[in-house]
Amino acid sequence: MRVAVLTISDRSSAGQRPDLSGPALAAEVEKYGWTCVQTAVVPDEISQIASVLVAWADSRQCDLILTTGGTGFAPRDVTPEATRSVLHRETPGIAEAIRSRSLAITPHAMLSRAISGIRGQSLIINFPGSPKAAVESLGFVASVLPHAVQLIS
Ligand code: MTE
Repeated sequence: MRVAVLTISDRSSAGQRPDLSGPALAAEVEKYGWTCVQTAVVPDEISQIASVLVAWADSRQCDLILTTGGTGFAPRDVTPEATRSVLHRETPGIAEAIRSRSLAITPHAMLSRAISGIRGQSLIINFPGSPKAAVESLGFVASVLPHAVQLIS
């Protein structure tokens, strides 16, 4: 499975804070035996998030796009809106599963507005911004992702 990882963070994109979540997710992807084919860091701007998602999905070079960050309640948290703007179909079960499993770890999981869905032949999933939350979230859905991706290809 070809996977792309997009970190969404004003501070990391400005070089004010190292991006820990993107590399943590990329390392996790390789542990599952998948290939991380693209990574990028963008600020919390709808147009920039959307344009990377469109470019990656429409290149048909990645089956799965994972985003990390920008899913919370802060005014600059716009990842779900940016993602929704490029999706052809939503896949709510994936976001529901992540939230429900995450709630067993922390009640703060209800503060993530993350969504997931399909654009063309790519599955896009939002994860929260902390490395711990992102890696946990991937772990909750990893077992179904190869089949999910097979269904849309
Ligand atoms: N999900 C898991 N599995 N583990 C966590 O530690 N943290 C939460 C939540 N989801 C968390 C989690 C917190 S504290 C927030 S504020 C929201 O994700 C949104 O995070 P984001 O704004 O960095 O995307």
